[in-house]
Amino acid sequence: MPDSRYAEVYADWQRDPEGYWARAAEGIDWDRRWDRVFDPALGPYGRWFVGGMMNTCANALDRHVTAGRGAQAALIWDSAMTGRVETFTYAALRDRTAKVAGALRALGVGKGDRVVIYMPLVPEAAIAMLACARIGAVHSVVFGGFAAAELVKRIEDAQPVLIICASCGLEPGRVVEYKPIVDAAIGLSAHKPGACLVLQRPQAVAAMVAGRDHDFAEAEAAAEPADPVSMAATDPLYILYTSGTTGKPKGVVRDCGGHAVALQASMNLIYGVHAGDVYWSASDVGWVVGHSYIVYAPLLAGCTSVMYEGKPVGTPDAGAFWRVCAQHGVRALFAAPTALRAIKQQDPDGKLLAMHDLSKLDTLFLAGERCDPPTAIWAAEVMKIPVVDHWWQTETGWAITAGFRGLGLFPVKPGSGGRASPGYDVQALDDDGKLVARGTTGNLVVRLPMPPGAAPTLWRDDDAYRAAYLADYPGWYRTGDAGVIDEDGDVSIMGRTDDIINVAGHRLSTGAMEEVLAAHPAVAECAVVGAADDLKGQVPLGLVVLKAGVDIDEAVVVRELVALVRERIGPVAAFRDARVVKRLPKTRSGKILRASIRRIADGQPANAPATIDDPAVLDEIGAVLQPKG
Ligand code: COA
Ligand code: AMP
Repeated sequence: MPDSRYAEVYADWQRDPEGYWARAAEGIDWDRRWDRVFDPALGPYGRWFVGGMMNTCANALDRHVTAGRGAQAALIWDSAMTGRVETFTYAALRDRTAKVAGALRALGVGKGDRVVIYMPLVPEAAIAMLACARIGAVHSVVFGGFAAAELVKRIEDAQPVLIICASCGLEPGRVVEYKPIVDAAIGLSAHKPGACLVLQRPQAVAAMVAGRDHDFAEAEAAAEPADPVSMAATDPLYILYTSGTTGKPKGVVRDCGGHAVALQASMNLIYGVHAGDVYWSASDVGWVVGHSYIVYAPLLAGCTSVMYEGKPVGTPDAGAFWRVCAQHGVRALFAAPTALRAIKQQDPDGKLLAMHDLSKLDTLFLAGERCDPPTAIWAAEVMKIPVVDHWWQTETGWAITAGFRGLGLFPVKPGSGGRASPGYDVQALDDDGKLVARGTTGNLVVRLPMPPGAAPTLWRDDDAYRAAYLADYPGWYRTGDAGVIDEDGDVSIMGRTDDIINVAGHRLSTGAMEEVLAAHPAVAECAVVGAADDLKGQVPLGLVVLKAGVDIDEAVVVRELVALVRERIGPVAAFRDARVVKRLPKTRSGKILRASIRRIADGQPANAPATIDDPAVLDEIGAVLQPKG
């Protein structure tokens, strides 16, 4: 490992956290300097850069144009789905964003209003987000793989004045019509947004509702450009709903100032890139990785961000990622382990990779789910570059632990998510809140306060934030992940301690799926667990007990349950496997032993607690799950 400056920088932060962040804040243009770097009296644990005023969109676009980077590419849209590539310079992206911001304003959107965005990976999705930021509207992007019912939950909670959508998304082999999903969601929602701005894609032109729907291109063309609005550092920039342990998603809030400071700083610190470098995060704007590392961070840092509409395999083959990296001169690639596993399955020897010039690519970053060491080792061998795993969550907005390309601390040990980022004091606690010894698995926590960029609260619900993250271990933020910190301080993430699973890097709630299964008229009770999967890391597996006296063929009920989850949550849930069982394993107090079910599904010993009501149930479950292996 090259000589590392990590220890020095981490110690610098530990010595004087406020001084550290005040220096990082010099990387952002402020309309008004903050009064206090951190005020512990505000919100659930405090707020950053209180009194400071700035605009995130101006920092992401205008200031680079002013600084002479107007002709540099800001965004390269590479659509394997349509065979098109479009490049937007900083000047062009600023101009389009200003016009769309003007269009939003003309439709009555003002500072503090919410705007839901339901779009595939098209440049207009980034433009829509930045346009909201420009006029101080709070965007809430919903991933396109979610069904209408999930969209309804988000519309009812965020109460948007307007929805921006595209007519369709493009999945391999099918056109997914988004607009009918939006129409259905508005129909079902108790809250009715006043207007929709619809981007018509030629693959499926949407029917418009007169008086409510407006054509994106026409509205943009007719609009007066809008200037950036000065925002308080503590104003919300966006809400991103993420899966919690129940069917109600959590509205994670991101503020303006701290977010811009942390993200801008992370680009060099973690990813080792600078203004002018090409950076590609192969994610979707519907997830936090897409918010932070397709849109905001690369632009705040003056990089060129690649937005890729396609898959790692099948569009057209397992060489797609390497083609994109070579064609656009990508320097740092950020992808989900699932994508690498998919490529490895189809091109284990890297033959397709060898056909491309990857000389500019210097690091692969992985996150979103646990990366199995064989995949990390394979990637390093075929790509011949360092592979850096890093661990983060929607709530934190940037990496809690990482390898630090900009500080010379890379790669990280295979299986480890790296070391704590400056800003995070990460520890492992036992269930009683005591620190565990190094090398012992514990509940991973972060000492409060959380750093800039991390969510200050949940949307209009400080109490829910406290209950979800702060109540279990006073003085600490509960990450919900279990893990081990070794003698070097390297953190390995073992998995969630709650009912959240990670399917192909997508965060999903088993509780939400259980709510759907329980709604089937034949189902008496059910459990959904995340079973290990070679490609997607985890896939949901449902076990259902039928109501007494119900006479229905198992294959029929399973088909109906699979269809129901797809209809209510969406295809992204990838719920394809359910089994009928006579009873579920429970403790004597009636708690379902989901962890034991998961272990049985993975072919491991059930490790049921002593409080199990009837151990014989475990054998029954084992027999039912056996045929799958
Ligand atoms: N809009 C509508 N539907 C979508 C969608 C979107 N934006 N994204 C996914 N879906 C659908 C897919 O079409 C698929 O539908 P199907 O059941 O009809 O086939 C379903 O949701 C599951 O999709 P996906 O998880 O992509 O699985 P897949 O089998 O189609 O592809 C991989 C497998 C490995 C190629 C894919 O999971 C992948 O690229 N994973 C990486 C994910 C990633 O980068 N995550 C980053 C998060 S930080
Ligand atoms: P999300 O909020 O969608 O980003 O999902 C966050 C969760 O994904 C975390 O709580 C972890 O369970 C998991 N996760 C993210 N990154 C990693 C990683 N590098 N290693 C292991 N798990 C990860």
